[in-house]
Amino acid sequence: MILNLFKRKPKGFLGIDIGTSSVKVVELSSTKAGVKLETYGELKAYGYLKRLSDPIQSSSLQMLDSEVAEMIKRIIDDANVSSTAASMSIPVFSSFFTLLELPSMSVKELASAIPFQARQIVPIPISEVVLDWEIIGRFNPQAGGSTVQEKLLVLLVAVPREVVDKYVRVAKLAGVELRGLEVETFSVVRALLHDNQETNLLLDIGARSTNITIVDSGTIRMSHNLDISGNEFTKTLAHALGVNMRRAEEHKISRGLVQKGGELEASRALVPLIDAVMQDAEKIMNIYYRKYGKKVVRVVLGGGSSNLPGLREYLESRFAREVVIGEPFSAIKYPNILAPVIQEIGPAFSVAIGLSLREILPSKLAVK
Ligand SMILES: Nc1ncnc2c1ncn2[C@@H]1O[C@H](COP(=O)(O)OP(=O)(O)OP(=O)(O)O)[C@@H](O)[C@H]1O
Ligand SMILES: [Mg+2]
Repeated sequence: MILNLFKRKPKGFLGIDIGTSSVKVVELSSTKAGVKLETYGELKAYGYLKRLSDPIQSSSLQMLDSEVAEMIKRIIDDANVSSTAASMSIPVFSSFFTLLELPSMSVKELASAIPFQARQIVPIPISEVVLDWEIIGRFNPQAGGSTVQEKLLVLLVAVPREVVDKYVRVAKLAGVELRGLEVETFSVVRALLHDNQETNLLLDIGARSTNITIVDSGTIRMSHNLDISGNEFTKTLAHALGVNMRRAEEHKISRGLVQKGGELEASRALVPLIDAVMQDAEKIMNIYYRKYGKKVVRVVLGGGSSNLPGLREYLESRFAREVVIGEPFSAIKYPNILAPVIQEIGPAFSVAIGLSLREILPSKLAVK
């Protein structure tokens, strides 16, 4: 008898997030009692803080495939990962998001209309991108009091083919079976907001960039990416305090925006950066409100930088809205002993958790 070992349904699913400052892996499994954390691990990118001072900011996309694959393999080994089925995320800065309003049509018609639409929006040749889309709603625009034809709200995502190819190569080198690739915003939304029916603003503040996303009824409506994030905070602090990147990073994590005696100025140096992120967020909330008449009820923070001491409170006072730090582990079972660690690493693991949940929860938009 031949044992069909490979067709065996995997026990768990991996979420692999290749970020700018570190690679994170989570293994979740679906049990009768709910979704269970099997294991997790993180490896900081070597020389990351040092590279930050270089004039050309490095990103995970510039790392060699073999380097990234080695990091994944090491985490898999160290964390005793047992499954190989994995989903990986694509950084927002290497993708294009658009919300299209199209006349009502069949799914088949849509499939032939999308490339034409994309051609007008995506700045690189359509033959060099992988396109995906999802109908996220239907609405009846009111024109001068009379109802006009129903429209479709379609979210279009385009990812350069070379980026997709890179991830496929990395997965192969790392020895994992790649089940899906998706733009990281979808992963964060799945981890933090998939069952939330309200209008939320998601602020994913990582190391290299901040993603500002309107999430309505659990789906992405608008998304914008800017380069102000954890790296920029550290650099600004290093400058303000006249210290090296390592010291500045330590200061950022221990003090953040919480002012104290002589360091008053250093904390203040971060405020203009955070205000710039807020300004962009306000703009997006206004556009969304003007177009769809919906107000954001809550701001949800994700990414490692959401733990910046004092940030949540500062944003809450300025946004005049509830601001919460996202908890991607909240619906996941894990040993009690891990609670303090999980509390701390939670926001930074949002992408990895969302990726792993991709195979466990009913699937959403993903690059095919
Ligand atoms: N307690 C903390 N306070 C402030 N900043 C923190 C804290 N913990 C981590 N960070 C910052 O969070 C960032 C890393 O976050 P995260 O792991 O989400 O980024 P990444 O996924 O590597 O980057 P990106 O998504 O931008 O490519 C770093 O800039 C780090 O300094
Ligand atoms: Mg990230």
